[in-house]
Amino acid sequence: MKHLLSIDDLDRASLTALLDLSEQFVAVNQREIPKVPALRGKVVASLFYEESTRTRLSFETAAKRLSCDVMTFSVAQSSVKKGESLRDTVQTIAAMGIDAVVVRHPAAGAPYRIADWIDGSVVNAGDGRHAHPTQALLDALTLRRRREIAGLHVAIVGDVRHSRVARSNVKALHLLGADVTLVGPPTLLPESLEGWPVQVSHELDDVVSEVDVVMLLRMQFERQQEGLFPTLREYTARYGLTEARAERLKPDALVMHPGPMNRGVEVAAEVADGRASLVTEQVTNGVAVRMAVLYSLLGSGAPVA
Ligand code: NCD
Repeated sequence: MKHLLSIDDLDRASLTALLDLSEQFVAVNQREIPKVPALRGKVVASLFYEESTRTRLSFETAAKRLSCDVMTFSVAQSSVKKGESLRDTVQTIAAMGIDAVVVRHPAAGAPYRIADWIDGSVVNAGDGRHAHPTQALLDALTLRRRREIAGLHVAIVGDVRHSRVARSNVKALHLLGADVTLVGPPTLLPESLEGWPVQVSHELDDVVSEVDVVMLLRMQFERQQEGLFPTLREYTARYGLTEARAERLKPDALVMHPGPMNRGVEVAAEVADGRASLVTEQVTNGVAVRMAVLYSLLGSGAPVA
């Protein structure tokens, strides 16, 4: 594998192999010195054209724990502000000698263009509403550490229409044998669900007591052109995982959120911090998953030391 641009780049076997490799990095991260020399001398550039807290720090931490050199590019402090194109920016960075680019971009497909322009590997850290493969991998790792994924019933709730997290998760969860139900008002679900291996519900109350996992999504206002539902209060009333709704979950149900959370909107603070919540585990596992991805793309194939 040269690039990781979408979950479509993986099949069930390669996805499972990546999760198995991630487990080795979970173990590395629990060592007193959570660092291995595996990718010493490799250079990873992180190129974020959109805001990010978790994903960016997670990739940069992952690269450093593999002993890579990390080049960080902040759009706000770069020549992008002087009008430099994506292609010129990427070729400038590539000319300094890099082995991989981790890219987040508001335009769907941007990582594919970059993969055509440079010799190194490209990892998609989120492109528009299209894909966010490492988020789906870290979600799968987090779930798999708790449960057998095959046969699990997962509800993905909220602004699926604008969510690259949902798109990548549907694919990964389906590959691993889970049943996925998308939950939201029609205005927040994709215009066409043709080919999506999912069921659909317009009422969270109809499914909340049946599912094994509730994956909540943020309302992505920055990608919405118009008001897609009347008010946030109404959204929370019908689709928020409130404390009252959470009481109807199965006793062993799990709650996930990719972050950033809007507490009190899609999830009550008490639920986000509650026993069923995997939110902080997701973040922790994200570093291990990104180590596994970089190691697979740039490593020699030798066992992890
Ligand atoms: C998400 C993203 O940026 O796609 N966050 C993340 O990477 N964990 C989800 C979001 O922005 O709501």
